[in-house]
Amino acid sequence: MKKIILDLDTGIDDALAIAYVLGSPDAELVGITGTYGNVLLEQGVRNSLALTELLGHPEVPVFAGLPHAMGRDGFAVSESTALIHGANGIGNVVIPDAERPVQDQPAVDFIIEAAHRYGDELAYVPTGAPTNLAAALRRDPSLKDRLHVVLMGGALTVPGNVNAWTEANIDQDPEAANEVFRSGVDATMVGLDVTHQTVLTRRALDEWRQIDTPAARAYVAMVGHYIGAYEKNAPYLGGCGLHDPLAAAVAIDPTLVGCLPINMKVECEGPTRGRTIGDERLINVAPKTTRVALTVDAPRFLREFMQRVGAALATAR
Ligand code: RIB
Ligand code: CA
Repeated sequence: MKKIILDLDTGIDDALAIAYVLGSPDAELVGITGTYGNVLLEQGVRNSLALTELLGHPEVPVFAGLPHAMGRDGFAVSESTALIHGANGIGNVVIPDAERPVQDQPAVDFIIEAAHRYGDELAYVPTGAPTNLAAALRRDPSLKDRLHVVLMGGALTVPGNVNAWTEANIDQDPEAANEVFRSGVDATMVGLDVTHQTVLTRRALDEWRQIDTPAARAYVAMVGHYIGAYEKNAPYLGGCGLHDPLAAAVAIDPTLVGCLPINMKVECEGPTRGRTIGDERLINVAPKTTRVALTVDAPRFLREFMQRVGAALATAR
């Protein structure tokens, strides 16, 4: 049973990652930590609380993380992101507020405590700006030898989705991402190289229309909105990229992807700021602490995805 912490900027594919983990018999969602990106921190935390209750899991604790990059004094959602995920992050679908509050403990403290408590049983899965993780590594450098990270972010062999070289999560805080890679923490990078190979089509989405729960109706509406955005922005994909659920799936079952071991860095200066690339200074240095996912068993992942998210939606209230 893998223990999972999801670190989310809870937009639509983050919501799918929650459902994926909750629908997985071989995983336990021990907590959600909030970050920013698709939405402001507060909205993401609100969505995580509300979605876990909609899915019938009020026991999952939700922690608020840092609201913006360390080197900036604020954060605003970009116009294009607000169109992709909707103004409320979940495709403008209205779901009830949660009854329970956010935890008092700050997210960074929870991450550090969980890393010490669970050790190798735990996978920490950032799928938004990696600011919380960089802060945790700074606060407790011993995390580098005890935390296993599976992050959604970056692009090594394909163009970015913000510009030709930058992926959205890394773009929010390139310095934090660079600190994470260069810290030597054990990391698997699940970037656009593989997440654009795992696409949900409108036809597949129709399967969930047969499930008669409020959660299923909300998810069908949300994901319909998300696919609509992809039809405008990246019609060649034929559906929406399953970024965050793929990272969650790899955290539970690493055999879904084939990886290149490499020491990575993020360029923080100049026109290619935000580019994820091999670190030329560490190219011949062992150990190679990051594995970049370059191949994916897309049919197997999509089968698991439909089954696990479908199970979470069907057992929800
Ligand atoms: O680039 C895709 C990533 O950016 C996903 O995590 C999506 O939710 C957004 O955060
Ligand atoms: Ca995300």
